[in-house]
Amino acid sequence: MSTLINDPISSGAVAPAVKPTTSQGGQPAYFSVWDLHAYYGESYIVQGVSFDIREGEILALLGRNGAGKTSTLRAIAQTGSPHITHGEVWLDHKPIHEMKSYQAAQAGIALVPEDRRIIQGLTVEENLKLAQIAPPHGWSLERIYDLFPRLGERREQEGVTMSGGEQQMLAIARALARDVKLLLLDEPYEGLAPVIVQEIERTLEEVKRLGMTTVIVEQNAIAALHLADRAVILDTGQVVFDGSAQEVLDNEELRHEYLAI
Ligand SMILES: Nc1ncnc2c1ncn2[C@@H]1O[C@H](COP(=O)(O)OP(=O)(O)OP(=O)(O)O)[C@@H](O)[C@H]1O
Ligand SMILES: [Mg+2]
Repeated sequence: MSTLINDPISSGAVAPAVKPTTSQGGQPAYFSVWDLHAYYGESYIVQGVSFDIREGEILALLGRNGAGKTSTLRAIAQTGSPHITHGEVWLDHKPIHEMKSYQAAQAGIALVPEDRRIIQGLTVEENLKLAQIAPPHGWSLERIYDLFPRLGERREQEGVTMSGGEQQMLAIARALARDVKLLLLDEPYEGLAPVIVQEIERTLEEVKRLGMTTVIVEQNAIAALHLADRAVILDTGQVVFDGSAQEVLDNEELRHEYLAI
C-alpha cells in the first residue's frame, strides 16, 4: 500500500492526527518518525515528517536538492541542528526524541554524513578502533575486514589518503563497529565513479542481507531504489510519497515531478 499525498502547499499540509503505531503489514514499527518539525534558526525546514521502518528494511529517502533529506537525518540523529520543535522518533521502543545526540548514538542510531568525517592522522584501523572506544560495541575488526577486504589490506594506511570509495567504506565500517540498530546514510555514492558506486552497492547489499535497518539518502535515486525495499519522497520538508521502491521505479510521472529523473 502506498500513499501519494496531494500537493502539500495547496492542500495546507495537514499533520497526521493519529500516531502510527504499526508499520505496513501490521508488525510493530521498529523505527518510526512521527510528525517531526524542525528549524534552523527561524527557517522552518522539516515540516511534519512521518514514516516508519520495519526491522531489516531499507528505506530510500528521496527528493530534490533542498527538499530536507539531510535535515531530516540530522533531526533523527538529534544533532541539535536543525532543532526539533515537535514530533517523536522511536527506535526499538526507545524515545530517541528525548535524547541528546550521544545518547541517540548509544541507543543505536548511526549517521554517516555526506563528508564521511574520516579522522586525519589516523590509520584505517585506528579510525575503526576509535569507534569502538566506548561500549556498546558492534562488529569485531575481523568481521569488518571480512566484509570490506579492501579495508583489511589498507589497515595501516592513513584513512584520509584512501580513494573516495574506500573512505565511504571506512565510514560505513566505522558505523558497524558500534552497536548499530539504524544506519542513516547520507549520499553514500556522492562523488564516486560508477564502478566504485557498484562496489559500495554490493557492500550495502551485504549489509542488507545481514538485516541492518537502513535509511539511504541519494541523488542517485535509481541506484538507491534498486537497493531499497521502500521509498519516502520529500518535497519542501514534507512527505509527498510513501510506498514501495518498485512503485517509484515504475511511476515515471512521480519520478519526473519530485526527483527530476
Ligand atoms: N545549517 C543550515 N542553516 C540554514 N538553512 C539550512 C541549513 N542547512 C540546510 N538548510 C536549508 O534547509 C533546506 C533543506 O536542506 P537539506 O540539506 O536538508 O536538503 P537536502 O534534501 O539534503 O538537499 P541536497 O539534495 O542538496 O543534499 C534547504 O533550503 C537548505 O538551504
Ligand atoms: Mg543533503
